[in-house]
Amino acid sequence: MAVKEVHEYAKNLVREKKKELKEKASLESEDMLSRFLSSGHSDEDFVTDIVISFILAGKDTTSAALTWFFWLLAKNPRVERELVKEIMEKSEASVYDEVKHMVYTHAALCESMRLYPPVPMDTKEAVEDDVLPDGTVVKKGTMVTYHVYAMGRMESIWGDDWAEFKPERWLEKVDSGKWKFVGRDSFTYPVFQAGPRMCLGKEMAFMQTQRLVAGIMRRFRVVPALAPGVDPHFISFLSSRMEGGFPVKILHRETSHSN
Ligand code: HEM
Repeated sequence: MAVKEVHEYAKNLVREKKKELKEKASLESEDMLSRFLSSGHSDEDFVTDIVISFILAGKDTTSAALTWFFWLLAKNPRVERELVKEIMEKSEASVYDEVKHMVYTHAALCESMRLYPPVPMDTKEAVEDDVLPDGTVVKKGTMVTYHVYAMGRMESIWGDDWAEFKPERWLEKVDSGKWKFVGRDSFTYPVFQAGPRMCLGKEMAFMQTQRLVAGIMRRFRVVPALAPGVDPHFISFLSSRMEGGFPVKILHRETSHSN
C-alpha cells in the first residue's frame, strides 16, 4: 500500500513533466527530470524508478548534511567568519561558476560530514566466499558493516585533533595565498561509499549544499535555539538524525550583531 503510493507519486511527477514538455515543445525548464526526459529516456517505469531512487538517496542525506553543518558552524564562529568571507567575495553569478570556486565552503562541508556522516554506517552481504585485503576470510552470506561515523573520528586516520571541526585539514595554501582543496581517497573517507557502487549523486550533493549554504549565509545567520548548554543528540538510523530536529532562529546577517 505504502509502496504503491510512492510509485503513484513518482509516476505522476513523470507524467506531469512529460505533459509540460510536450506543451512547451522546448526545454525551458532546467530541472533534472526535464533533462532526463529530453535526452531520450522516455520509458515511464524506468524514469519513475530513477525519480524514486534520487528522492530516496538525495533527500535525507543532504538534509542530514546541512543540519549538522549548521550546528557545527554555530559552535565554531572562526569557521563561520572564514566561510562568510569567501561567500561574500563570490558574485551571485551562475550556480556552477559560483560554487566551483568555493573551496573553503567545500572543505567545511567535507569536514562536517566527517564528524556527522549522513549515512553513518552501511552493511553489505558477501554473495560469494571472499578474503579481505588484510586476510580476513568472509564466508558467503556474511554481513560486513563499515562504520563511517567511527572512521571519521579515528585518531589513526585524522590525527590527535580529530575532534576539532577544522576545514583547513582539507586545504593547503598555494603560492598566490589562496586555498587549494586537497581531497582524501574514498576508502579513507567513505562518506559517499567507495568502489564501483559509490554514490552517483556526490557532485550534485556538493553543488546543492554549497549553493544552499552560500544562499543562506550571505543573508542570514542560523542560530541554534536549543536550551543553553544543551547539545543535540545524534541518532544513527539509515541516515544521521538530530533528535527532535534542529530548532534555529534565522537572523538577518546585516542587522544582527556580527561574530
Ligand atoms: C550529502 C549527500 C549524500 C551522501 C552522503 C550520499 C551517500 C551515499 C552512500 C553512502 C551511498 C551508498 C549506499 C549503499 O550502497 O548502501 C549512496 C548511493 C547512491 N546515491 Fe548518494 N549520497 C548523497 C546524495 C545523493 C544525491 C543528491 C543523489 C542523487 C540526486 C544520490 C544518488 C545516489 C544513488 C543513485 C546511489 C546508488 C548508487 C549505486 O548503488 O550504484 N546521492 N549515496
